[in-house]
Amino acid sequence: MKVILAKRAGFCFGVKRATQMAFEAAVMDKKTYTLGPIIHSPQVVNKLEEMGVRVIKDLETMESGTIIIRSHGVASEEITEAMEKNLEIIDATCPFVKKAQEHVKSLSEAGYGVVVVGDADHPEVQGIVSYGGDKVDVVGSGDEVKKLPKMNKIGIVAQTTQSFENLKNVVSECLLRGGEIRVFNTICDATAVRQEEAKELACQVDCMLVVGGYNSANTRRLSEVCAELQTRTHHIETAAEIDPVWFDGVERVGVTAGASTPKCIIDEVVSRIEEINKSH
Ligand code: F3S
Repeated sequence: MKVILAKRAGFCFGVKRATQMAFEAAVMDKKTYTLGPIIHSPQVVNKLEEMGVRVIKDLETMESGTIIIRSHGVASEEITEAMEKNLEIIDATCPFVKKAQEHVKSLSEAGYGVVVVGDADHPEVQGIVSYGGDKVDVVGSGDEVKKLPKMNKIGIVAQTTQSFENLKNVVSECLLRGGEIRVFNTICDATAVRQEEAKELACQVDCMLVVGGYNSANTRRLSEVCAELQTRTHHIETAAEIDPVWFDGVERVGVTAGASTPKCIIDEVVSRIEEINKSH
């Protein structure tokens, strides 16, 4: 049985950077917290917790120490609150998310009605929106633009994980509702690249394993994309979940992983498949 690992499986640039910053902070002998889990990987969060880095939901109870901001950013009010409390801030917001926040800020300051293309319930979007005061609307699709009032000037930015197609649809609808349109393409292609690679791989193998947190939206999406092409697709968090029965009659196994899955977990999965292969 041959194991094929997707080239781009695992950490994207922003998640790698945020995780590195958190582990660097963990070795300092200080009271350190992350505002929400640093990434959607329970294994990484637990490891950090063992090293003394605790997850908190908000800053209310925090009076001193270091706060780490996760890769998809937080609301501007939370940064202000941390500064007012004189907390030490380690800002691990992905630079691509930061760009989207900055565009929303400058667009709203310049008098544009801002449209953010994305999922209103996602923390990244909630953070981005907070930089635009009360001049921001979130839309999930072109259709939702129809509900917005007419505006003279519309500025558009996207949640980093949006598809280009959806951004294009929103822009077309906005052209019908505003006189002047400014568009910032803030989509990060890390997600799309992983999905394309996973699709290709799923077509070449008899069984597909997608590794990553059950709470990670991008891993779940990867798994769905693969399952559409390969019915023998399994979403797992760790190597311990692998059932050898999955590989009955299988000649090629594909492995991919979400953008928040650490390399060590991917390596363990590959080793476990090879171990099962040898014992058959
Ligand atoms: Fe950043 Fe893109 Fe990852 S926005 S956190 S590099 S998916």
